[in-house]
Amino acid sequence: MFASAIRFIKAVLMLPRSVVTGAASVLTGWWMLRLLWRFKTPIAIATIGLFTFSAYGLPGLIALVVVPPLVSLTWRSLHPVSHRWFTDRLAARYRLRHVYGPRWHDISQACGLHETVPGGSVAPQLQRVMVSAVGDVLRVRILTGQVPADYARRAVDLAHAFGVPDVRVSSPAPGLVDLVLVVRDVLAEPVILDDVPPVTDLRAVPFAVGEDGQWRTRNYANIAAEVGGGVPGSGKTAGETSLACGLVQNPAVQYVVIDGKGGEDWSWIAPRAAAYCAEDEDLEAVLAVVEQVHGLMRTRLKNQKTTRGDANFWNLPADPAHPVVFVVVDEVQTFTDTKGMDPDTKLLAQRITARLSALVKKGRSAGIITRLLTQKPTSDAIPTSIRDNASVRTAWRVMSRESAEAILGPVIKDADVSPVDIPEALRGVAVVATDTGRLERVRFPLVDERTAEAIATRSAGLRRELAAIGAPTIDDGNDKTAAGAESAGAAGVAS
Ligand SMILES: Nc1ncnc2c1ncn2[C@@H]1O[C@H](COP(=O)(O)OP(=O)(O)OP(=O)(O)O)[C@@H](O)[C@H]1O
Ligand SMILES: [Mg+2]
Repeated sequence: MFASAIRFIKAVLMLPRSVVTGAASVLTGWWMLRLLWRFKTPIAIATIGLFTFSAYGLPGLIALVVVPPLVSLTWRSLHPVSHRWFTDRLAARYRLRHVYGPRWHDISQACGLHETVPGGSVAPQLQRVMVSAVGDVLRVRILTGQVPADYARRAVDLAHAFGVPDVRVSSPAPGLVDLVLVVRDVLAEPVILDDVPPVTDLRAVPFAVGEDGQWRTRNYANIAAEVGGGVPGSGKTAGETSLACGLVQNPAVQYVVIDGKGGEDWSWIAPRAAAYCAEDEDLEAVLAVVEQVHGLMRTRLKNQKTTRGDANFWNLPADPAHPVVFVVVDEVQTFTDTKGMDPDTKLLAQRITARLSALVKKGRSAGIITRLLTQKPTSDAIPTSIRDNASVRTAWRVMSRESAEAILGPVIKDADVSPVDIPEALRGVAVVATDTGRLERVRFPLVDERTAEAIATRSAGLRRELAAIGAPTIDDGNDKTAAGAESAGAAGVAS
């Protein structure tokens, strides 16, 4: 059978030679070879099939059809990651050659991304196709004189030309752009975590998923403060909770939580928090906790170099005896927005705001990171002196550009993403600034309260009192610290 197939191919190749002779026969043979090369894949499949059938008969042919899918299925169940990598690469190569490659020249020309030269046009070079969770990514070497913004301007044209809902443009390196043909909006689906892995490296803390389906990380070294805002129910507390669930499992991290809502949103952290205060009316209790953290900051700033050898906390190794202190103030407007307060409460609120402001300005080299969340992102709730010193900013859904600007700053004016566009249903989606200062949309994960409670309980052994990590204990009525925190504990507060 195999021999007769070979005879058949030979006969086809030789066919023109009986009528065409000499040099012309070489040309006809070459034409035939090119034709065969063009149909190489079906010819290769048919040849392998014929060979297997002639050598091993029908069982061989059946094995040829059954074994590759079986191997693939076994591989996928044993090691899905490498299987995915392999199949993605195969799909990407196929799409480069047969889907995007043949259309690229025409599409880039139709979208005005080509360059006209005498006698024709030069298209940018389509170098690679990659498969991502969102859709195919086309890596293009741009023409000399072009910039990625030229492609961003043509994103809508490219989306229509490729028949996809959206095309996103980014530049992975100078001279290259990635065109993401978006067929799936990853941010439309919630990221629900059944457990949160411990954060071991504070310089790469995963916090949310980006539009490409990849986790985003933040470097918390040398960070003084973060502000976050969004309308009620936009996902602020849930986002902060998911972050805290990873951080509290690190022995070199202590948490101080002040919940200005006065509810139980943060009660899960009580067994693990160095101080937890859910007071929205008893501002003395809140001030006591803030004073104690402020005292810790001052002690560290004054003594750190002498006792530990460096004035900057972040140049020192992670040490549970000298932990990083995350201070979370949820619904911070309860304390910072003094409108309508009676004079005594106003005085307390001003002291709290002043202390928070000092923490935001000077906490970085003391290893104290202050995180302020609010549903009222105005300059009354987050004074610009605080916002402008907060290097990390997160805007969940807001209702106006003014609110967006109050959180993210003037950068929002030139950005092509905005927290005002976030649909109400997409709770947990927020706009954050990337390492390069660009704004992007991310979705925070959701950790259910029971999971958070379980994490706090299993890591409760890592909890240290603020006084035990060097915060001064002041029993003076005006200068409340540990004693005040304890009284806060008595007032429905776990410390
Ligand atoms: N990342 C998320 N994914 C899916 N659902 C979420 C996410 N974040 C929050 N939600 C849903 O939205 C609800 C409200 O979230 P959350 O309490 O965090 O809002 P908030 O912005 O803190 O509101 P408030 O200002 O009233 O405290 C949650 O109970 C949850 O059901
Ligand atoms: Mg909340």
